[in-house]
Amino acid sequence: MSDAVSSALFRRAQELLPGGVNSPVRAFRAVGGDPIFIKEASGAYLTGADGRKYVDFIGSWGPMILGHAHPAVVKAVQDAAIRGLSYGAPTELEVTFAEAIRAIYPGIEKLRCTSSGTEATMSAIRAARGFTKRSAIVKFEGCYHGHADCLLVKAGSGLATFGVGAPDSAGVPEGAAKDTIVLAFNDTAGLTELFAKRGHEIAAVIVEPVVGNMGCVAPEPGYLQAIIDLCKASGAVSIFDEVMTGCRLAKGGAQQLYGLQADMTCLGKIVGGGMPLAVYGGKREIMDVVAPMGSVYQAGTLSGNPIAVSAGLATLELLLPALYAKIEASSARLEKGLNEAIAAAKLEGQATVQRVGSMITLFFAPGPIKSWNDANRADRKRFGTFHGSMLESGIYWPPAQFEAAFVSGAHEDADIDAAIAAAAKALAA
Ligand SMILES: Cc1ncc(COP(=O)(O)O)c(C=O)c1O
Repeated sequence: MSDAVSSALFRRAQELLPGGVNSPVRAFRAVGGDPIFIKEASGAYLTGADGRKYVDFIGSWGPMILGHAHPAVVKAVQDAAIRGLSYGAPTELEVTFAEAIRAIYPGIEKLRCTSSGTEATMSAIRAARGFTKRSAIVKFEGCYHGHADCLLVKAGSGLATFGVGAPDSAGVPEGAAKDTIVLAFNDTAGLTELFAKRGHEIAAVIVEPVVGNMGCVAPEPGYLQAIIDLCKASGAVSIFDEVMTGCRLAKGGAQQLYGLQADMTCLGKIVGGGMPLAVYGGKREIMDVVAPMGSVYQAGTLSGNPIAVSAGLATLELLLPALYAKIEASSARLEKGLNEAIAAAKLEGQATVQRVGSMITLFFAPGPIKSWNDANRADRKRFGTFHGSMLESGIYWPPAQFEAAFVSGAHEDADIDAAIAAAAKALAA
């Protein structure tokens, strides 16, 4: 599946980097074969180390909504770099960026920039705990919020496991996870019951409003509102982790799409335009617990870095209604084509396409998929074969069943049709 140049690079990399990569999913372990090493990217395309071109449906795992190396973003980065790479002091750029974010997300009255989504969610939880003076947090099975200790927790066996979570990763002490309660996504009754029993202990509920990290899973009608309402009634903080959905499902993310406002929001990926930049923010009184205003400590040498903020601002300026209209049309075309390919291969009931906006997943499982329990039925081996075939056809699809593919403004109909034709071939085989 891979090319000889990438395979040689991968052997070199494995001597030095754990698994040959700087982030696990890139190693292609979930699908087999060696990863493609990337030489360069432009628009909807990646060029592999051997010069082969691929249509990219990963988009750096979300940030590249404008496509790769968009001229306006590249120019903003070049212009900023000439003025210095990092100052470790406040800049007007950060103020302009914060104003731009607040204009898009009215629920974010105050915010802080971090360098990664992991830092944003970790810090949001610390702020929520500091604000409420409570320890317990609630997350949902199959939602990924970065790799902070307290968030690397999976659920117990039952849907109504209100007990103590167990760490998902070695190296996370049980103490770090003992205040993390895990429930099934889309289970309003379970959450309501939990709040009835332990609402007074809960500092925050954190959720991916549309899940991308178990594949694309939409919230049931009323579910997100129930999270907000239950938090409000018990004095807990609702945190929408929009690191993936923010500026993607709409300029104002899932909260704009569904007409909701969480107490706190985490953003990343698109807001940095492909540079290391993320945001956590929310109600003024919550954010004012953060140092130096309050006693919740959080800091960063490169936080609000001028180059990252410049890339972010240039990207935000290009998030126009016409872009979202184009992406929606392309995404709908892809969804329709994949469904037709499934029907042609007589795989109905065995393969399911789920899409919200430009997030799309082809599950090798019967649908609808509403929670991790449903997603976990997927046939990973079949997905691996599908992925290999897509790659052979020049389509760079996420190398894991439980990841969403992303459509960008750079994808033209011909790119979408190439993906559909590749999928039809893979499914027929
Ligand atoms: C919803 C969500 N939250 C948080 C993160 C963590 O962001 P980062 O990888 O920038 O640390 C991710 C990363 O994929 C994510 O999808």
